[in-house]
Amino acid sequence: MSTIRARAIVYSKYGEPIDVIKTHSYDLPAPESLKDDQVLLQTLAAPLNPSDINQIQGVYPSRPPISINSLPGLKEASAVSGNEGVFKVLGAGSAVANLKPGDWVIPHNVNYGTWTSHSLSAEKDLLKIPNTIPLKQAATMAVNTSSAYLMLTHFVDLKKGDWFIQNGGNSQVGRCAIQIAKQKGINSISIVRNRPNLKELVDELTALGATHVITEDDNGSRDFGKTIKEWTDGKSISLGMNCVGGSSVSGLSRKLGKNATLVTYGGMSMKPVTLPTSLFIFKNLKAVGFWITEMTKEDPSLRSEVIEEVLKLIESGSLADIHCTLNKIVNDKVSDEQFTESFKQGLIDSKTKGKQIMIFE
Ligand SMILES: NC(=O)c1ccc[n+]([C@@H]2O[C@H](COP(=O)([O-])OP(=O)(O)OC[C@H]3O[C@@H](n4cnc5c(N)ncnc54)[C@H](OP(=O)(O)O)[C@@H]3O)[C@@H](O)[C@H]2O)c1
Repeated sequence: MSTIRARAIVYSKYGEPIDVIKTHSYDLPAPESLKDDQVLLQTLAAPLNPSDINQIQGVYPSRPPISINSLPGLKEASAVSGNEGVFKVLGAGSAVANLKPGDWVIPHNVNYGTWTSHSLSAEKDLLKIPNTIPLKQAATMAVNTSSAYLMLTHFVDLKKGDWFIQNGGNSQVGRCAIQIAKQKGINSISIVRNRPNLKELVDELTALGATHVITEDDNGSRDFGKTIKEWTDGKSISLGMNCVGGSSVSGLSRKLGKNATLVTYGGMSMKPVTLPTSLFIFKNLKAVGFWITEMTKEDPSLRSEVIEEVLKLIESGSLADIHCTLNKIVNDKVSDEQFTESFKQGLIDSKTKGKQIMIFE
């Protein structure tokens, strides 16, 4: 029976990803040898997201099991890394109804284990998407684009001309939020960290559709509030989106209007969410959390609904190509060590060089 050599990034204990990840290689059946219900997948692209890193560190509440059964041929209990990615169907067993070779799919659920060259799956665990959309969009739509969409639509009924403010404006979620808001006629203020090439970033985000981009220094200055009032022409900002915490969220929340909602979805600064007491008493601030994993687990139909909405945005050209670095791995040409090294380098680069996406050939 012919086989395909598959590789997966796994870990057997929690820790810093570059210390604990390694490659497990194993054989999968070739397309012509699949069982009736099996779908053989080749990974096309998988991002390295902050939540993937937190899972490996053992500090993320939803984690794949560290189990000897995670993959065939494991010598010690391991978990497979990666939650998000896009796959090409290489083969489908005779009982697989709606998938055929060449189709593209994304995982139906989190903890799939996407940092792999190939995998074997069941049809029920996969969502088919058009194989004509840009690869980078396909690889990142399930977590970041969907999160931006849900946060903008789920908490406050934002109408055309309304305003929202966010920190982490240069994050992938932030960039998606800017574009989705623009498409809906919603104004945005995006806070970014200062940097030597600030103008370049401001121009880039403005080209994506940002109404205004400000720095954390502006955000921290009480005087700057007046400029924002001029921009909004006195209209309240009714939604805040926070993925940073610390003093960034204090400044952001001061710019919100009466009865506004602050949605916290990340903690990139690793600092607590610090909010002025007066905002709760005098402005009736509502502070809530967002976690796409829980929201779509509680309401599974939401996952398919949001993917459908995001696909419409992608197909209509409302979302620009994802800003990221692509790291190519040619599975046939690399050793297990080189496979691991590519991921380690991607993880190192993700700290300082923006979003990293692994692509596989
Ligand atoms: N709750 C959910 O369901 C959910 C879903 C998706 C994402 N998230 C969270 O959303 C956040 C963004 O994810 P992503 O994939 O879009 O990120 P990303 O593209 O990898 O970008 C990370 C962002 O974090 C900023 N950052 C890093 N360290 C920081 C610090 N110490 N202080 C302030 N900002 C810092 C970076 O700023 P620079 O641009 O200045 O480098 C960058 O904009 C993460 O916290 C992630 O876990 C949550």
